[in-house]
Amino acid sequence: MSDGAGRFITLEGGEGSGKSTQARRLADLLRARGLDVVLTREPGGSPGAEMARAALLSGAIKPYGVEAEAIVFAAARLDHVEATIRPALAAGKWVICDRFTDSTRVYQGAVGAVPMSLLRGLEEVAAAHARPDLTLVLDLPPETGLARAAARAMGATADRFEGEGLAFHAAVRAAFLEIAQAEPARCVRIDAMGDADLVASRIADAVLARLPVPKLERVPA
Ligand code: TYD
Repeated sequence: MSDGAGRFITLEGGEGSGKSTQARRLADLLRARGLDVVLTREPGGSPGAEMARAALLSGAIKPYGVEAEAIVFAAARLDHVEATIRPALAAGKWVICDRFTDSTRVYQGAVGAVPMSLLRGLEEVAAAHARPDLTLVLDLPPETGLARAAARAMGATADRFEGEGLAFHAAVRAAFLEIAQAEPARCVRIDAMGDADLVASRIADAVLARLPVPKLERVPA
């Protein structure tokens, strides 16, 4: 049974891990159980943060350095939390977010080498009022993820982070796995190999096991 309180679920993982598809499918599953769901994403998720998204993913902030990028990601997150996530949770809605603070810890911190002290401070300012109840870490080999991302882009130019090499994406994977291992109460590693139905069923099992999702309504005969 649901207790009427909202819950905050984040999906994390490398390029081509299927987060966006799976976030939509999870939203469908929870709505079918009668929950009021807000599906959102980062960077972005509010009008102010979507403006920052364009600057970040085009690479326009890159010349200012990794610290500047981390600060802009955090500024976007603060707007997203205050404008979208916090009001939804306060209204008892369930929020599903495609990427959140772990992406900063991984891309700017573990891989980008921004000092953790700066990232911790930024996280405290931007996300103190939105702590995920559950984080699904979608895991697959970077070769597979990059091939999927390339097929999806069909010749479009890679964004700021997709354009990095295999070693970068292998480091991203390792850093996400480290977070999942270090915080088992919040995080679940999801095997993202296989087709979307299979991955969706793994996610459904994890969510139903950990959060108070109402039972399916019985359809009258
Ligand atoms: P997006 O197009 O949403 O990609 P994906 O489908 O892989 O989620 O681009 C988001 C990119 O921004 C992705 O490469 C990871 C990066 N990112 C960070 O570096 N730090 C962050 O805090 C967030 C939220 C994303």
